Amino acid sequence: MSKAIQAIRGMNDLLPETLLLWQRIERAAESVLGAYGYREIRFPIIEKTELYKRSIGEVTDIVEKEMYTFEDRNGDSLTLRPEGTAGCVRAGVENGLLHNQVQRLWYAGPMFRHERPQKGRYRQFHQIGVEAFGIGTPDIDAELILLTARLWRQLGIRDLELQINSLGTPAARARYREVLIEYLRDHHATLDEDSRRRLETNPLRVLDSKNPAMQTLIAAAPNLHEHLDEASHRHFEQLCATLQAAAIPYRINPRLVRGLDYYTRTVFEWVTTHLGAQGTVCAGGRYDGLVEQLGGQSTPAVGFALGLERLAELASLQQVAGADNSPQVYVAPLGEGNIVQQALLLAEQLRDVGLRVELHCGGGSLKSQLKRADRSGAQYALLLGDSELAAAQVSVKNLRADEAQHTLGLAAAPAFLRSRLLGGVAE
Ligand code: HAM
Repeated sequence: MSKAIQAIRGMNDLLPETLLLWQRIERAAESVLGAYGYREIRFPIIEKTELYKRSIGEVTDIVEKEMYTFEDRNGDSLTLRPEGTAGCVRAGVENGLLHNQVQRLWYAGPMFRHERPQKGRYRQFHQIGVEAFGIGTPDIDAELILLTARLWRQLGIRDLELQINSLGTPAARARYREVLIEYLRDHHATLDEDSRRRLETNPLRVLDSKNPAMQTLIAAAPNLHEHLDEASHRHFEQLCATLQAAAIPYRINPRLVRGLDYYTRTVFEWVTTHLGAQGTVCAGGRYDGLVEQLGGQSTPAVGFALGLERLAELASLQQVAGADNSPQVYVAPLGEGNIVQQALLLAEQLRDVGLRVELHCGGGSLKSQLKRADRSGAQYALLLGDSELAAAQVSVKNLRADEAQHTLGLAAAPAFLRSRLLGGVAE
């Protein structure tokens, strides 16, 4: 036997059992997004490297050290998408979706970052991303947050704290940047190596440092809020007032700066303490400059992405039930030839009335077929042997309740099971 090839580090296989919870989350998200008028968009997993450099920012961790970048056969530099906002904006501009109009879009799929793998942090991970274009007022910021809160409620997810902050306009942030650089320079000796590197390039990210030795310095740093422009202040206050009116608890975290450069004004994260170091389950904010930066007309925008691995892990810890995709009926042909054919046709008729049906294929004894029927999760097994077929009947066995096995006319079986399992009126 040759040596088995293994998956790439940090890239996980998602097995059927795990995916039940993912599917429950994805279906809930799709239904909530539909309730708010969002439409799905799909765009490529690979884009020109330039797209991410221009949007996420040259001196961010993602662009500096985490992108899967390679030359294709033409010598073009391409990158596996590390996030979805850039691609969504690119696709929106290129297809004329963002021109003078409101667009509410969502997407889902894998993203790639060459980070150090650990629990909750992978090199291939999955996001559901949501972006609203063409609305500059804080009502849409609030609505996006309400949408996420509704999703948590619908799934029964608890213990997520909403943290919010405002980063102001790029001009206000540039002024604050100067003040912060001055402060950090004055405390150069206390800075760790990472922060020294960031001091000149991306000083706001120093505030994001998790190094315990840096926390006193960070706590005493000048506050961005004191340098915010008037309009951003008002925007933020209106957002806070709306969240209060909607009874959504939140915490203002003045140190919340986010790891991507495109944000302006509102930023937010939903954070849990149950997942260890990777506690941010959902994160986003406003990015009013990005559409123009990527060649479109100036268009305000706001969005977020939730990390499916993290949300599924939290859901699993909180015993959220997964999707129920198991068959409702197991059809067991106890014989060969005509019996198998009739069983196959019966299974088709059961599916015609809307039931999920597993047909036993490959033959086997009554005992082994019943064992499989039980393992399948089905409520009923339908047994079709010589005597049943001769009488145009089928034996019905309830696998989950104490009910005597009985026979039923073959033709009546679909309507009977439909009314038992779907509660509908038999046709
Ligand atoms: P982000 O904060 O980089 O934002 O990622 C959003 C979420 O994706 C995180 O909160 C986390 O749940 C998940 N995530 C990120 N990296 C990993 C990883 N290596 N492993 C597992 N999960 C991960 C964005 O990507 C922005 N595009 C969000 C956005 C949309 N902002 C505006 N619109």
